[in-house]
Amino acid sequence: MSDTFGRQLREHRHTAGLTMEQLAERSGVSARAISDMERERSVAPQRRTVQALAEALALPEADQPAFLAAARAGRPKVTAAVPAGCCALPRPVPDFTGRARELAQLSRMASSAQPAPALAPVMTVSGTAGAGKTTLAVQAAHLIGTDFTGGTLFVDLRGMDTRPAGAAETLARLLSAFGLRDDEIPVDETDRAGMYRELLQHRRVLMVLDNVADESQVRPLLPGPGPSLTVITSRRLLAGLEGVHRLNLTQMPAGDAATLLRRIIGDREREAIGEVAELCGRLPLALRIAGNRLMSRPQWTVRHLADRLSDEHRRLDQLIAGDLRIAAAFSLSYTQLSPQARRLFHRLSLAPGADFDARCAGAFDPADPESIEDALDELVELSLLQAHVDGRYRFHNLIRLFARERLAEEEAAEPR
Ligand SMILES: Nc1ncnc2c1ncn2[C@@H]1O[C@H](COP(=O)(O)OP(=O)(O)O)[C@@H](O)[C@H]1O
Ligand SMILES: [Mg+2]
Repeated sequence: MSDTFGRQLREHRHTAGLTMEQLAERSGVSARAISDMERERSVAPQRRTVQALAEALALPEADQPAFLAAARAGRPKVTAAVPAGCCALPRPVPDFTGRARELAQLSRMASSAQPAPALAPVMTVSGTAGAGKTTLAVQAAHLIGTDFTGGTLFVDLRGMDTRPAGAAETLARLLSAFGLRDDEIPVDETDRAGMYRELLQHRRVLMVLDNVADESQVRPLLPGPGPSLTVITSRRLLAGLEGVHRLNLTQMPAGDAATLLRRIIGDREREAIGEVAELCGRLPLALRIAGNRLMSRPQWTVRHLADRLSDEHRRLDQLIAGDLRIAAAFSLSYTQLSPQARRLFHRLSLAPGADFDARCAGAFDPADPESIEDALDELVELSLLQAHVDGRYRFHNLIRLFARERLAEEEAAEPR
């Protein structure tokens, strides 16, 4: 018999007098998967699956080689390396600085990925706009990517766009990056997700899902068992995802922040560099913008920039360089807030001191305590506010200034 796997499977099942459900029960392979295989919608029956089916069908020994060979032939020919240009990893930044602990954590995650039945690890990297999430994921992927024989895939899910990438669309892109032809990719999102998980079962692939909007966008892209690693970046904490490892990216340590600035502008005016780093709240995006600004104005001293930044009212306006704007970056998260969270965000910018608790937050807003708690959760979820273990909340200094600007602009006419 030199027929396709799907046809052989159907024929052997009929010969054995089994329904799909009965075969499913005996083999442990789902009825849906069997149906997909018979209809040739599933092109990648794995060895383990094929063996289970052969046993459940009590396939005569003479028929086994043809059955196994047809399954092998049906498997898509996936090259180890992913085709160039498709879901390709962006270039790493040449002056990558610090984040050693985070890189080590990702590297440990990579070595923890084990063949099925072990569940493939997933790591979320969350943090505010410009914290360096994408940069970290890309750097890590370049460092540990060689370990992934199935290749590295990078997809931007455009989470902050008005129309984020849909899961079905993303799955199709990933499947085609795995070498599947358009006509081999199922129409249905659930089928695509199933095929995707099936492919990941036996491939050591590193997936970077960048800029994820929320849980619902990424859930269908989570792997099942297998040796792959998925790294998700998001401004949201994605608290609703279960069984994932989490990494929260905050500002850089003072030394690393100054080092990054020196790498951009050269080693000069150490004291002023330290000041600029602090005024940028040691936020990588702000440091990058400040560095680029200095590079594009050779006549400026670092001291001059430090002085300009030290005026709180002008700080955010100073942090613009080319198409990089710190306020625009924050704005993308801000626009996702509910009206209540927005109002609390504005008003909390007036809270004195470095941090505050929920009760103190309530003093700035007439809403009831539950609504205040909800609004605080929302702000934390979107990384506009940091929550600390002791129940206190803290603003990043640039985000506080941003909140104050929004307050002045949007509530100027409203009585408090
Ligand atoms: N560790 C780092 N070393 C050097 N530059 C960094 C680092 N992290 C972030 N950056 C720079 O900061 C800016 C914002 O980083 P990005 O990864 O885009 O932030 P996010 O994805 O969190 O919004 C980029 O210009 C990037 O080059
Ligand atoms: Mg990013």
